[in-house]
Amino acid sequence: MKIELSNNKVFFEKEGLKKEIHPFWLRERVNEEAFVDKATQQRLFDPTELEKNIEIKKLNLSEKFLEICFNDGVETKLAIQSILKEFSNINDIKFIEKIKWDSSLKNLNYFDFKENIFEEKIMYDALINFYKYGFIIFKNVPVQNNFIVNFANSIGSVRRTNFGEFFNVKSKPNPNDLAYTSLALAPHTDNPYRNPVPCIQLLHCIENKVSGGLSTLVDGYTVTEKLKKNFSDYYKILTEIKVRYQFIDKNVILEDWAEMIQLDENKKFKQVRFSPRLDFVPLMEKEKLELYYSARNKISELYNSDDYRIEFKLTPGDLLMMDNYRLLHGRTSYDANEGERFLQGCYIDYDSTEGKLKHLQRKFNL
Ligand SMILES: [Fe+2]
Repeated sequence: MKIELSNNKVFFEKEGLKKEIHPFWLRERVNEEAFVDKATQQRLFDPTELEKNIEIKKLNLSEKFLEICFNDGVETKLAIQSILKEFSNINDIKFIEKIKWDSSLKNLNYFDFKENIFEEKIMYDALINFYKYGFIIFKNVPVQNNFIVNFANSIGSVRRTNFGEFFNVKSKPNPNDLAYTSLALAPHTDNPYRNPVPCIQLLHCIENKVSGGLSTLVDGYTVTEKLKKNFSDYYKILTEIKVRYQFIDKNVILEDWAEMIQLDENKKFKQVRFSPRLDFVPLMEKEKLELYYSARNKISELYNSDDYRIEFKLTPGDLLMMDNYRLLHGRTSYDANEGERFLQGCYIDYDSTEGKLKHLQRKFNL
């Protein structure tokens, strides 16, 4: 891709096609001190108040810069690199390629916690791994009550839900969710009934004296790709039909409709939702329902199969950070009489991890 000039017009050439860049687009990007606040990169002018008939009076193109004088008297010098970057509206994070994994995964993406880790290069490495594998585990995180909230807020901001700013995972009497029992939890995604669904779950182990209660993870992306390849009719219906997910307790009724496998605008993997306690398939003709139920059984079989699940024990000081759009999580059952099992959890959204990752990238010139 390159920039060219002709008769006071700026052109970009991409894949053999030459197109003019609108002069207004360039005028909006003037970046001198009078027009842009250097610290925040926010505009000091409102482009909707500019004359619409902006024209270019004078142009000069060097190897790295494009110098422009506009007909309203404004002059600017724009970096070619920053113009070219704007041809893609794809978030940099999307270029981090997901690595598919199954039960053979040995590396559990452990990172040692230390004070100030949130401003260190190791945090950048951890976040890159988070986007590659969908989860990371920090070791030696202080086992203080509520530390999870400090941790979350040091990456971004806690995403509060009706379970509170954070939640305590331990068996308790009269629970409003099976998470708060000692029963096994099959692989599931959290909060599929919420709009938007919380993106990332953090789970901090404070105490774990039981022999069971292993944490389990399944890569929904790997399973989706498997389904797409080997069971395309199941893949198709699971990506097309919106299911109603609901949560009801004495204070709230939450409902949302979504596909079990949600694709983005380019038909690429975006999100899985799976929680067979909470999903209601819409009323459809019998044949279609027949196919839907077969598809749901197949994806459930894959999610619950030993081929895809990893199991590990969280020990005090471990903090698991997992992508709730990509991974399913669960646990094996445990005997509450053996001792305490106490985890604290909370959610954050992708803007937190993306914002932190980009900040660290800028800070360390990566
Ligand atoms: Fe959960």
